[in-house]
Amino acid sequence: MSELPWTPDFDTWPVTHALVAAQARVDAVRLVWDDGRENHFAAALLRENSPDPDTVHPKSREMIISPDALPANLRVADARIGPAGELIVAWAPEHLQSRYHPGWLRAHAWFEDQAHDPPAPRLWAAADVAAPPTFDGPQALAGHAVFLDFLIALRDFGVARLQNLNPAPGLLERVVRRIGPVRESNFGPMYTLEVKDNPDSNAYTAHPLPQHIDLPTRECPHGLQFLFCRENSVAGGAGIYCDAYRIAEDLRRQQPHHFDALAAIRWTFNNRATTSDYRACAPIIDVDAGGRIRAVRYNSFLRAPLRMPLDVQQRGYASVRAFSVRAQDPRYHLVFAYRPGDLVAFDNRRVLHGRNGYDATHGRRFIEGIYSDRDELHSAIRILERARRAQIAGP
Ligand SMILES: [Fe+2]
Repeated sequence: MSELPWTPDFDTWPVTHALVAAQARVDAVRLVWDDGRENHFAAALLRENSPDPDTVHPKSREMIISPDALPANLRVADARIGPAGELIVAWAPEHLQSRYHPGWLRAHAWFEDQAHDPPAPRLWAAADVAAPPTFDGPQALAGHAVFLDFLIALRDFGVARLQNLNPAPGLLERVVRRIGPVRESNFGPMYTLEVKDNPDSNAYTAHPLPQHIDLPTRECPHGLQFLFCRENSVAGGAGIYCDAYRIAEDLRRQQPHHFDALAAIRWTFNNRATTSDYRACAPIIDVDAGGRIRAVRYNSFLRAPLRMPLDVQQRGYASVRAFSVRAQDPRYHLVFAYRPGDLVAFDNRRVLHGRNGYDATHGRRFIEGIYSDRDELHSAIRILERARRAQIAGP
């Protein structure tokens, strides 16, 4: 039996379904699969992904050709199924024949009910959960399986926790770098939540912190935040988390005029420091063209005055108050103490965080923080899932 062709990537594509028919149309190929499903690939899509060394570099697996290098009158001359179950396409007017891996074709086929990548978030409020998804830290760090579960929980739930870690210096950075690069900020590559004499953030006081995202002052705020508790013997200071996507969806259903205002009015957020002046301007709820929420930029202590006509000011402040009422409502809150060895990871553009005040006069509270980004999380999950697929597929 002849071998399957290589694919224009480094992934593993198990052949879960066999091709049963391939039909050439002038500008497309129609495929029929053994489960009765059908899909179409545009000629241009197949042509630019042709696994031949003049189209895709066999080592980098990146495309070599540019769309303008393809003939304007590109057509599919013939499409058939090869002896290994691959798709064979003959092109015209080029004298080229391309072979496509059926696993790769199936994975890239468009079907009406296809799953989204990443999957839709699992929204939550206090009644749905008693604690964030929690995993044993040493077990997570010892292999890939539990670590992948932790990352998937962080992606889908927006917050996840590792416990029983050794509260040693350097461990937080090691865990974060296992996912991907650290994203620094003006607070440095890593910051420590402790009381400072001259705080450049409310975080560096013992005051309670209302629900917020960090760094709303950036064009694209940091996507992930990691807090690692190395020591905690103070009274108070429990972490409070809430799912801002859930709040936004409840607003959309119950107070749609506030949701619309939050999704439309562009607020400026500015940091209040003597040595930096970051500013960003964006709506508080970021909605994509399909109506899905893709980020929330909520922070009540770094929001600048709304410089808009009076009617917009009135709508803007009323909608922010409506969001704030929910963000501070315990019915949305997940509250838990930080114990030494706890590492809490959360999506900084989705899950709001805050804390109860604490007594800084007795005991010590030592929490380190690092930022990274969502892209790193999604990439790490895909790589671990790819490895798992390769393991299942075998050599
Ligand atoms: Fe914060």
